Amino acid sequence: MVKQETWERVVLKKLELPNGMVVPNRIMRAATWMSQAEENGICGDTVIETYGKIKAGVVVTGFQYVMHEGQAVKRMISNSRPSDVEGLKRLVAAIHASGGLAAAQLVHCGSRSLPRVTGIDAVFGPSEMDAPQPKGDVVRVKAMTVEHIERVTQAYANAAKRAVEAGFDLIELHGAHNYGLWQFFDPSFNKRPVDDPFTGLTIEGRCKAMVDAVIAVRRAVDIPIQVKVNSSSDTVSSKEVGELAKKLAEAGAYCIIISGPNPSRNPKDEGEAYFFDDATVIQSIVRGSEVLVGLVGGIRSPETVVRLLTGDGNSQAAFDVVQLSRPLISEPALLSRWTEEAKIGNQEPARCISCNHCLAAGLKGKVRCVQFEEK
Ligand SMILES: Cc1cc2nc3c(=O)[nH]c(=O)nc-3n(C[C@H](O)[C@H](O)[C@H](O)COP(=O)(O)O)c2cc1C
Repeated sequence: MVKQETWERVVLKKLELPNGMVVPNRIMRAATWMSQAEENGICGDTVIETYGKIKAGVVVTGFQYVMHEGQAVKRMISNSRPSDVEGLKRLVAAIHASGGLAAAQLVHCGSRSLPRVTGIDAVFGPSEMDAPQPKGDVVRVKAMTVEHIERVTQAYANAAKRAVEAGFDLIELHGAHNYGLWQFFDPSFNKRPVDDPFTGLTIEGRCKAMVDAVIAVRRAVDIPIQVKVNSSSDTVSSKEVGELAKKLAEAGAYCIIISGPNPSRNPKDEGEAYFFDDATVIQSIVRGSEVLVGLVGGIRSPETVVRLLTGDGNSQAAFDVVQLSRPLISEPALLSRWTEEAKIGNQEPARCISCNHCLAAGLKGKVRCVQFEEK
């Protein structure tokens, strides 16, 4: 059981961002595609109503595509045109009214973009290869030219400018889950030769696309940048991710959020906070630098939140923030519930059972908690 005093001291502890803005607590809503944007990617009433109910220190939006060719699913939020700004403004207003700061998650999905969704007859990634598509289809990925990669980097910067125009407080770059930026870092996707500036054969070459995106966004806007990365993969060690995290911090990221491939697992099988072991390796590599480290994936109980934020008594091992996704699909006001329950010494874990039916519902129409929906 977590004492009220501990909850308030550890979880409701304010976080000062590098630009002096203050986050009211240490729980962020993890980026979550809600399948609720309009067909053309504009934020309409449904998405705005959903976000207005979420209680968190920072609410990271579902991934927003920065170029139409980099869209991976239907009803994703677009941040690729000036006409997107009005809807994004209303989205930010809803998040602010609910009490959190607003972070725009930006992405180009690389070879995970879907021609079926974009209507563009090609997908682009670091290297030519076959990419599996839904329903067993396979599509041939075209290798981006250096000029193409530079256009994508610029698209991140342009999207960040639109995010600022819309009132967002932070940017989160999506460098995880095998989408575009991660693909350049992971040699199983990046087969570019050694004489290419984005080569998959050196750590510098593999980091360059993600580092360049941070630099471009930092030059374009004056709000804090966090980057979500995989903790490791079959072909990338957590130590290498630690090296990447150091370079992202040098480039100007204030915080690294640790996730992993196949991010939405079941903590009943693997234990809560299932990327913890790799995340501690990454954290030990960046320790001593100013960069903050956050963790996402399977965090379900107040005790785990406190354990992660305190390092279980070892401040050197403490994470600075934690992110939650599925629990806040099921209970958007979970943080308020936990805070109320802390006062009577009886906090119940999140009711989310990690069944992923929310995700399946999204593919059919709208992300929602199927398990506990009102009948
Ligand atoms: C419906 C759904 C949509 C998601 N959309 C995104 C997304 O847009 N961007 C992202 O980085 N992760 C996305 N994720 C992954 C979550 O942010 C998170 O990393 C993962 O679900 C593990 O956290 P959890 O156990 O708290 O759910 C999504 C997950 C779900 C279930």
